[in-house]
Amino acid sequence: MEILKTPKEVREYRSSIKGSVGFVPTMGALHEGHLTLIKKAREENDYVIVSIFVNPTQFLPGEDLDKYPRRLQADFEICKRAGVDAVFTPNAENMYNEDEILIKAPKIKGYILEGFFRPGHFDGVLQVVNKLFNITKPTRAYFGKKDAQQLYLINQMVKNFFFELEIIPVDTVREKDGLALSSRNVYLSPDERQRALSISKALKKAAKLSAATQNIEEIKKEMIRILDVDKLQYIAFVDRDFNYIDKIIPDNTIILIAAYVGKTRLIDNIWI
Ligand code: PAJ
Repeated sequence: MEILKTPKEVREYRSSIKGSVGFVPTMGALHEGHLTLIKKAREENDYVIVSIFVNPTQFLPGEDLDKYPRRLQADFEICKRAGVDAVFTPNAENMYNEDEILIKAPKIKGYILEGFFRPGHFDGVLQVVNKLFNITKPTRAYFGKKDAQQLYLINQMVKNFFFELEIIPVDTVREKDGLALSSRNVYLSPDERQRALSISKALKKAAKLSAATQNIEEIKKEMIRILDVDKLQYIAFVDRDFNYIDKIIPDNTIILIAAYVGKTRLIDNIWI
């Protein structure tokens, strides 16, 4: 497995290979969720490139950039075992310049929900993913539905900037008890982890109820009853294009939750 540290090294590697390239961008601390993206990329492409980069521009001041888990050696092992061909681990200096051209997330859909509570977060995500796509030139790039709004915005960027690649969405991977896997789960104490479970439980219940009723208020009431979090930021009902909806639309609804459990901010969603 190649370990590539600079955009130049990736460019050279990229021009040395022929065939389809599956690309999985990550911030490392790899778990079963990331691994599922990698495995799918492995199945569908001749080559697989994984990037591991804790991208500073998508963290707001006061967020967890400094304490975000970093486990590079363990991540390399996981990638090697999964048959990854090349891992790209740049540092901020060779990804960013001073006073550079910036990409802005769309004014509405980039600034609602996650973008409302983390204003500018998606500008940073799109900035780095744009660079990563240009560096790795993938045939297909793999993103988790766990970050549904990110997935939506990246699809928009591919359309708006005429990238010639395919975005492959991957279902959310969960622990046996339902907790969505996240690199941030390591922050949870045993008690917090137990209470964090109420998020996936509320979503599961919402999915079940939505088979019988389209009434969002009714479903929301039941979700709030189940939730055992410290600060609920939002429960939202949107269609697949992130337009708010006022009743459940079968096969075109995403229900999303963002909440703090202790000091840890968690997001999860379910596609109806
Ligand atoms: P990160 O949080 O490391 O996630 C990398 C990819 O793994 C994302 O596409 C995310 O949706 C997916 N993922 C995370 N948890 C998952 C789960 N439980 N099931 C399925 N997929 C899951 O998302 C980012 O990094 C960054 O914003 C990035 C796109 C790399 C840009 O910096």
